[in-house]
Amino acid sequence: MKVNKNVFKGQEAIKNFLNPENLPYLPLVELPAALNPFAGDGVRIQAKLMNLLPLGNVKAMPAYNMVMEKAQSGMLDSVKELIENSSGNTVFSLAIAARQFGVEKTNSYVPAEISWNKLLMLLFFGVHPIVNQEPVNPSENDTASGVYKARKDGERPDILNPGQYENPDNPGAHEKWTGPQIWEQTEGRLSLFCAGLGTTGTLIGTSTYLKRQNPDLPVVGVMRAPDQYVPGARTQKLLNLVDFDWQAHLDHIEQADSETSYRLSMAMSRLGLLVGPTSGMALGGLLRHLEKKKEQGRLSALRNEDGEILCVFPCPDGPLPYLDEYPKYVDASEFPTIQNEEFLLNKPK
Ligand SMILES: Cc1ncc(COP(=O)(O)O)c(C=O)c1O
Repeated sequence: MKVNKNVFKGQEAIKNFLNPENLPYLPLVELPAALNPFAGDGVRIQAKLMNLLPLGNVKAMPAYNMVMEKAQSGMLDSVKELIENSSGNTVFSLAIAARQFGVEKTNSYVPAEISWNKLLMLLFFGVHPIVNQEPVNPSENDTASGVYKARKDGERPDILNPGQYENPDNPGAHEKWTGPQIWEQTEGRLSLFCAGLGTTGTLIGTSTYLKRQNPDLPVVGVMRAPDQYVPGARTQKLLNLVDFDWQAHLDHIEQADSETSYRLSMAMSRLGLLVGPTSGMALGGLLRHLEKKKEQGRLSALRNEDGEILCVFPCPDGPLPYLDEYPKYVDASEFPTIQNEEFLLNKPK
């Protein structure tokens, strides 16, 4: 038996460790009945833990893939800097991947309303932020938008704009790695795949691979409901700005609000799956979808050859970067009370 001891050695050890090609499959873990109201109906829900990638977030895969593909095609040879419009997971993942391929500096356009915590995270990872006053109602190709400015900067031969909203190597990463892993881990018995929508790379790439194996597999995309806050996920209006033809890769759309997303993320975390708000959003959308199917009496149509309804949703990252946001969206009754709170010396105002 060939045992993968998960050891990376030598001068290229970190680069090899960051390459998803060299990693063991990311865990696929079933939710207990406490988090699955449809367990009695034969529904099994499994979380694909993308948060367990080396960089702790789903964007590590497309970031590595986008940089690696550019390097392999010789397009990094003249490049001294990267530029991307991103205030979170994508740009710090890109910065780390880029360093492994010899590009030391990564810049990022960030919106003026970026939280201080997120800015600190970018600085921690050595990303150079450029604060941009984003248009209130951005339209495609708005010259004031960070996406446009990054694209423009990237026209210089010494600057590369990976362009996560239009670069096929973003969904390509999930077609190459996430889709095959899920198909093999579920032994082809998957009944439904459900993913949150940001750049839509996860959904497009994974769906492309899975539907190639089973063209009838239903795919559900979950967006953030209008005026709701779930960092990393997009509303319908914001999705209209994504260049990919994401609608062609899904069969149903659900929406989830902030409260559902943060509450379900906290519930999963408390049981040992350390996943963040967009994981709660994807689960919330999946549960809503199953509820509708049950109301319509159409749940049974999803049963696989074992008579079960096997659903998988990816968990993009962990809860820790968002800790201060949970009390804003989750009911106070969900939190333990602090005894002797009046003694605290450093309570935030
Ligand atoms: C935390 C988080 N969740 C979900 C997503 C959405 O993933 P995708 O861009 O593949 O649609 C992203 C990234 O955009 C993210 O950072």
